[in-house]
Amino acid sequence: EAGLITLDPGYKNTGSCESAITFLDGEKGVLRYRGYAIEDLAEKADFLEVAYLLIFGELPIKEQLEKFTKDIKEQSHVDEEMKKILDGFPKSAHPMGVLSSLTSALIAFNPSSVDVSSEEEMYKAIVKILGKFPVLAAWTLRKKNSLPLNYGDEDLGYVENLHKMMFEKPNKSYSVDKAVIDALDKLLILHADHEQNCSTSTVRMVGSSHAGLFASISAGISALWGPLHGGANQAVIEMLERIKEDGGDTHKFMQKAKDKEDPFRLMGFGHRVYKNFDPRAKIIKKSADEVLGQLGVEDPVLDIAKGLEKEALEDDYFVKRKLYPNVDFYSGIIYRALGIPVEMFTVMFALGRLPGWIAQWREMRLRKEPIGRPRQIYIGENLRDFKPLGSR
Ligand code: SDX
Repeated sequence: EAGLITLDPGYKNTGSCESAITFLDGEKGVLRYRGYAIEDLAEKADFLEVAYLLIFGELPIKEQLEKFTKDIKEQSHVDEEMKKILDGFPKSAHPMGVLSSLTSALIAFNPSSVDVSSEEEMYKAIVKILGKFPVLAAWTLRKKNSLPLNYGDEDLGYVENLHKMMFEKPNKSYSVDKAVIDALDKLLILHADHEQNCSTSTVRMVGSSHAGLFASISAGISALWGPLHGGANQAVIEMLERIKEDGGDTHKFMQKAKDKEDPFRLMGFGHRVYKNFDPRAKIIKKSADEVLGQLGVEDPVLDIAKGLEKEALEDDYFVKRKLYPNVDFYSGIIYRALGIPVEMFTVMFALGRLPGWIAQWREMRLRKEPIGRPRQIYIGENLRDFKPLGSR
């Protein structure tokens, strides 16, 4: 198999792990969830099917998907008392910080979400977080826009319900273009898992202490927030806007990025594993053209993004460092076309990554992995004699 590696059996959770969930080949730009190519899943599956696949290892048959969907819907109510916690945040709070706090606060209202070890108890915690997370995510946007909080509509699908909770206006009937829901569904699939990235490793590490699923997800949200990780999708749009405000001169920006002038990093470029094209970026770039065309949206930053990409792919500095567009480079352009505000982009990433985090936590707990304990290479002082204060 292309690039399949296994760790020697002597390893003991030093932060690396064996996993059967997602396979990446960075040189070949290959990404598979449970053996299925991301290109197939993005085109042919929907988000809850992919969530089921990642968590339980197989594509669901009709009855399994219907039960999974029903169990999630039954858990989509969030305790009214949670609104008091939301009220405590200023409107200016970043949605990722609010979401991480609300996710952690769920523990107080769902004692059973503290660690569980039986598959049956795990399933209950899993459908709970899958049901409540979209509500909390939508609430972070409603809070920012001073709009009433809602609980969604049981008759809608998972993604359309999320969209309705985010965007429905008081006293106005809600409707949405199917192209918007299809695009959102595809974006969530493309973000659903990515083996042992920063936030997923955080989820596994916190989960390995038996802190529980909700606490592990809350920690994963905080890790994802960083601009070098999931926060990059927000940083990409801010970068493209900066270039547009500056007259659209991508060459000038590229030079600053090469001169390593802060903050002129080429956000949305580069990857720790992909040293070739990120397969998700290819799909998202194609989808950006389709969605903007279907919605009749003209967005000048899409042209700037394409110009930047073309220039980088022909520039020795980036080619030599194998810096290619990653998942974050084009996703923000679609989110913007769908009317999602830039400060919600990383929340959208978290919504997509939720099933992956759950799958990785479940795998680690079912394998009864020991508590995580990465080792270090000590580079400090050798033994020294203590000096009293007066003689230092
Ligand atoms: C995600 O791990 C995952 O799977 C993550 C993710 C997922 O699905 O979970 O794929 C999601 O986080 C995607 C990455 C989003 N982040 C960004 O787009 C931020 C911009 N990218 C970089 O900060 C960087 O490329 C990283 C963090 C993504 C990867 O960093 P590495 O592998 O540690 O690379 P590095 O920092 O060691 O850089 C190597 C060289 C350096 O130059 P030299 O010291 O050799 O001269 O490449 C340069 C860097 O300066 N470089 C960049 C660059 N990324 C690396 N130069 C300009 N722009 C960039 N984006």
